[in-house]
Amino acid sequence: MLQGKRILLIVSGGIAAYKALELVRRLRERGAEVRAILTKGGAEFITPLSLSALTEDRVYSDLFSLTDEAEMGHIQLSRAADLLVVAPATADILAKMTAGIADDLATTALLATDKPVLVAPAMNVRMWQHAATQENIGRLRERGVHIVGPNKGPMACGEFGPGRMAEVMEIIAAIERRLGTAGALAGRKALVTSGPTHEPIDPVRYIANRSSGRQGHAIAEAFAAAGAETLLVSGPVSLDDPPGVRVIKVESAREMLEACLAALPVDVAVGAAAVADWRVAGVPTQKLKKKAELPELKLEENPDILAQIARHREARPRLVIGFAAETERVAEQGRAKRQRKGCDWILANDVSAESGTFGGADNEITLIDDSGAETWPRLSKHAVARRLVERVARHLASESKR
Ligand code: CTP
Repeated sequence: MLQGKRILLIVSGGIAAYKALELVRRLRERGAEVRAILTKGGAEFITPLSLSALTEDRVYSDLFSLTDEAEMGHIQLSRAADLLVVAPATADILAKMTAGIADDLATTALLATDKPVLVAPAMNVRMWQHAATQENIGRLRERGVHIVGPNKGPMACGEFGPGRMAEVMEIIAAIERRLGTAGALAGRKALVTSGPTHEPIDPVRYIANRSSGRQGHAIAEAFAAAGAETLLVSGPVSLDDPPGVRVIKVESAREMLEACLAALPVDVAVGAAAVADWRVAGVPTQKLKKKAELPELKLEENPDILAQIARHREARPRLVIGFAAETERVAEQGRAKRQRKGCDWILANDVSAESGTFGGADNEITLIDDSGAETWPRLSKHAVARRLVERVARHLASESKR
């Protein structure tokens, strides 16, 4: 969580500059305020307009612009931040930082600051390995500058080796470590189910539902960002694997159950999957053919994964959390579902067609625990995930004290 943290992001010139845009998005998603300085080189790769649209602020670039100085001088710009982040950091800007050169707004801000600085180097492998760069990096490190990456891999210039800028989520993790906001769940294990399940009718057809997996995936991502060792058991979705999360992909409810049981023990389990309640009995091994009479599908009940985890004799997680997808009387049905499934918390949400929850970006949650119900404002699914994870961290911490 970076709520209220102020980051001054300096984007210098390199092909990785486009990743700075994603970095801004991810930082703001976590509640950080981001101001950006774009160097002349950086502006060759991304436009001030795209950066400004994402920071929702003007982009600073000119050292001698009178309006810049009138609104916010370079000294104030660098001191009004909690952390300065240089991403990407070219060999050139690292050399200038080492030597104390201040010949543009970015380097002046870096020299004028009394705040911690984190750099994410990105450059050609030979430039990175050059003795000059290595010496500069060593000296910057001695001075307390934090360095994240570079990573090894194929490079835009066609070569292979260290020089690629660290991934956005690695930079975020480094920022959180530096600002002391990470790790509320370090050392804990989390299990999350997500997505729909597909229940076969025959080898080519299946029964499914409209779950996109966005909420479950966001929860897994938030657990990992808080430092938990996170396993996501996901039904078929068209989402990328969340960063820092181990993902097991399954199709049917029975496969999901098996993967979940094998993952125990964990500290916290969250059932966000829209598990199909029924499966087709006696699935044929061959495709059903059209005949004179219509085929009859006989259904049988699927195992209740959440209830099995919540009632596990040997390895019940300390906290079991379920969702209640309802289309009416949300809180009341949620309360009943909490009892029926034996879980600790239920996040009840309205999935009626008008709510736009299924497949949408937002969610409106009523959290039900043993002390009652609490309704959250309408939030993005990522914000719901972070709020939930914060609450889990507080709960586990207070339980450990008892
Ligand atoms: N769940 C589960 N296994 C199932 C069905 C549901 O683990 N076979 C979990 C879901 O992941 C969710 C919670 O149980 O966390 C409630 O899911 P929901 O679909 O709202 O409840 P159902 O048990 O299916 O009840 P109903 O459809 O009657 O409302």
